[in-house]
Amino acid sequence: MSHFIHKPVMVAEVLDALRPKAGGRYADGTVGGAGHAAAMLAASSLTGWLSGCDCDGDAVEAARVRLAEFAGRFEIRRGNFADLAQWIEAGSCDGVLLDLGVSSPQLDVAERGFSFQQDGPLDMRMDARQALTAAELVNGASADELARVFWELGDERDSRRLARAIVHDREQRPFGTTRQLAELAERLSPRAGRRTHPATKIFQALRLAVNDELSSLKRGLDAALTILKPGGRLAVITFHSLEDRVVKEFGRARTRDYTFPGGTDVPELRVPRTPEAVWVNRKAIKPGAVELAENPRSRSAQLRVLEKI
Ligand SMILES: C[S@@+](CC[C@H](N)C(=O)[O-])C[C@H]1O[C@@H](n2cnc3c(N)ncnc32)[C@H](O)[C@@H]1O
Repeated sequence: MSHFIHKPVMVAEVLDALRPKAGGRYADGTVGGAGHAAAMLAASSLTGWLSGCDCDGDAVEAARVRLAEFAGRFEIRRGNFADLAQWIEAGSCDGVLLDLGVSSPQLDVAERGFSFQQDGPLDMRMDARQALTAAELVNGASADELARVFWELGDERDSRRLARAIVHDREQRPFGTTRQLAELAERLSPRAGRRTHPATKIFQALRLAVNDELSSLKRGLDAALTILKPGGRLAVITFHSLEDRVVKEFGRARTRDYTFPGGTDVPELRVPRTPEAVWVNRKAIKPGAVELAENPRSRSAQLRVLEKI
């Protein structure tokens, strides 16, 4: 997998947050091309250990090659980070990293079907073993369901009109390619004067839906906290506001000294309890000017760090 090139974002900030040390145990739930993983192993030399996973088979292969120089100090598995606590011992880790979203190869390889800028099969699966593809969703879901996905996961104002147009067009010819879907979005909302391509939001929404990303994230955050030792740190890099909101809400709930059974935050119903974590930084950490200039894909990245109590 020598063509697997992904420039990791905010490496210095992640090292600052997780403070890898010799003898430490770390988990990387989104190992990708192993840029962060290699940095963590180098910083915890010679006796740090890293357990990594990625649901993308190409990434796992690339990570194993990239980490060859650290042989004997890591284990990489193919799988969802939601399941981290199934194979990593509870309370065993000094640091956990989740660097969310897609890798550059996933976006750049047309056959993966993530990009409206290149023509490829309408796929978008991070894990190619999964049955559901974007084409199945687009050709099989009702107009209401598609509109809901575009609205809730893409914040797309034209969600209903786009969904109805998809249902109309697919009766003549099912959607098979990214170009077909991008052209429909262009036809409905002409590009003139727009800063972003008219298909941006529906592609984001479909990707999140196909990979069930937000529910994996909720489960992954729980799993990460479970496998951390007291004093261990969880670093999460998000790339858009929906992901960031899930991380913020998770952190808010775990850092509070009360909970409220039943779901409604009625002050009288609050039950005191011991917080499970503290925020390490009050605000999200963002890439510096040098990184932004060198790596445009870092521009929407935000890092939040929690420490387990
Ligand atoms: C931004 S890249 C990570 C890059 C990596 N930090 C590096 O240094 O190269 C995100 C990776 O997370 C993976 N991924 C996304 N959601 C996942 C999940 N729920 N479980 C496992 N891997 C996931 C993707 O397949 C992708 O390889």
